[in-house]
Amino acid sequence: MPTLTFLGHDAFLLEDEQVRLIFDPFLKGNPAATLKPEQVKVDYVLLTHGHGDHFGDGLQIAKANDATIIAPYELATACGKRGAKTHGMHIGGAFHFPFGRVKLTIAHHGSGADLGGDTLAYMGNPCGFLVTLGEKTVYHAGDTGLFLDMQLIGEMNPITVALLPIGDNFTMGVDDAVKACEFIKPQWTVPMHYNTFDVIAADPHSFKTKAEAIGHRVKVMSVGEAFTF
Ligand code: NI
Ligand code: MN
Repeated sequence: MPTLTFLGHDAFLLEDEQVRLIFDPFLKGNPAATLKPEQVKVDYVLLTHGHGDHFGDGLQIAKANDATIIAPYELATACGKRGAKTHGMHIGGAFHFPFGRVKLTIAHHGSGADLGGDTLAYMGNPCGFLVTLGEKTVYHAGDTGLFLDMQLIGEMNPITVALLPIGDNFTMGVDDAVKACEFIKPQWTVPMHYNTFDVIAADPHSFKTKAEAIGHRVKVMSVGEAFTF
């Protein structure tokens, strides 16, 4: 059975008997994170977009572990130029890796990376990830506003656990994330992307209360907590 471990912000470890994946490993400089990049042991690094709070320590972790970065093509290519093993994909595309299936979804957001200098580096489109391990599917929505196509995502991919941003300002806030639960119909929802910074302050328990009131199950995870499903 797969296990998710919350590492703070949008960073999660997803592991089963076969594989260890990490999503958006923003650890160094993340006030919510307790794990250090050099403590991470993984086979794959999944990056939703080029913003620093997602791209994070992805390159360092991938290189230290000889792990493969899975990301939208432009971001993957940029990581490849910096010495990481990569597998570029794009929105709507799925690929069967040895551990399971990964499909990229849309995410309404940006993806410029601040690598120093006057302008941001172009990193293509941001994405969300559908990761299927055995019979279980995790939907990591990345940074996104609410979109109606979440209905299609839920209809075509029965979601076991949806990881949804609730922090507002840059992404969906609490009420939009509750609406997203209606669209996606996951078995469980875990809120993310809140309280890391003042501008994304949100109450995960308010989200839980509102989502449960319309019949959804929410797990509010603390940093370091594991959830086997
Ligand atoms: Ni972002
Ligand atoms: Mn973000």
